[in-house]
Amino acid sequence: MLIFDETERRWADEVFQKIEKKMEATVQRSAGMIPYRTENGRFENMAEKNICWWTNGFWEGLLWLLYDRTNKGLYRTAAEEGERMLDGAFAQYPRLHHDVGFLWQLSAGLNYKITGNEQSRLRALYAAVLLMSRFNLAGGYIRAWNDYPDEDTSGWAIIDTMMNLSILYWAAKEMGDARFARVARAHADKTMRHHMRPDGSAKHIVIYDPETGEELGEDGGQGYCRGSSWSRGQAWALYGFLISYKHTRQEEYLDTSKRAANYFISNVWQDWLPRCDFRSPKEPVIYDASAGAIAACGLLELAEELPQEEGTVYQKAALCLLKEMERHFCRWDQETDGILYFGSVNYKEKEGRNRYLVYSDFFFTQAVLAVLGSKLEIW
Ligand code: GLY
Repeated sequence: MLIFDETERRWADEVFQKIEKKMEATVQRSAGMIPYRTENGRFENMAEKNICWWTNGFWEGLLWLLYDRTNKGLYRTAAEEGERMLDGAFAQYPRLHHDVGFLWQLSAGLNYKITGNEQSRLRALYAAVLLMSRFNLAGGYIRAWNDYPDEDTSGWAIIDTMMNLSILYWAAKEMGDARFARVARAHADKTMRHHMRPDGSAKHIVIYDPETGEELGEDGGQGYCRGSSWSRGQAWALYGFLISYKHTRQEEYLDTSKRAANYFISNVWQDWLPRCDFRSPKEPVIYDASAGAIAACGLLELAEELPQEEGTVYQKAALCLLKEMERHFCRWDQETDGILYFGSVNYKEKEGRNRYLVYSDFFFTQAVLAVLGSKLEIW
């Protein structure tokens, strides 16, 4: 169990009150929307733009976090509305991708865990089946994306998928069917061998031969370049392997998560404000707050799994990240949407840099609630 002192708890309580105030105003003006990122202070609505978009579960997830803490009906109603809208994505099966985990674990999955809604349980199970169907038996990995118009991506696996495995572990327990967990472990094992570098950094994209599973190369993906170190990918590795450890108790996953955590900390400790890529040029400064928020969640759960003397290092690092990001990145006015500024979609996409992103807000809120002792099992 994590132990926080009085000052830390008071800090988290004050921040949560600010989150809640801002979110209440945001939810009231966001009816019928599934927010993604802001444009002139207002969230873009992906329910209209692209119902299959990978971030479409984070809004509902954030609302369930708030509902779980406050019991306020407005959050539940909006989360249920978002979940119903997401059925439109099931209807477009050929466009779905490995992020079906994010889409339905945080919407339907959390609904089921919190309210016991049977329809939500089914939605989360459908999503788990969809994810399992992306497993390439010959290659031993879960395929990430569908083909681009001019590129065959059937051999592409990405570090982000480690987070989506959570819905497979859940389905294995829920159905009493070990096949789901076997696929998750096979993918995690392969990712551990091919994506993780000896220093704890992670490749974003590994390209395999889809017929044999042989590694053909890597791609820098959303980071600066091939061989660089996209910080959100580092955070996905840190947290994703920890999740696999929590579900399987396989020590190698814990060690891998620790290596990724040590690497992450050694790249942010100077000011605790994560750059978008840890191996990009120093200028221009491009932050990615989402990486910091994801890493903070992972570090807190990692701390919980370790003996206290060791765990304290990770717990303190998480608090440094949260406090510094709150001080420098959070905007608490009621007029604009979004909590945590300075998220970046992608190093290379100029207009996607230094923005509010719904997943930054989700993970930041999750971490603040963890400091407040939330027992909700999200992943
Ligand atoms: N899973 C996609 C991303 O992290 O941007």
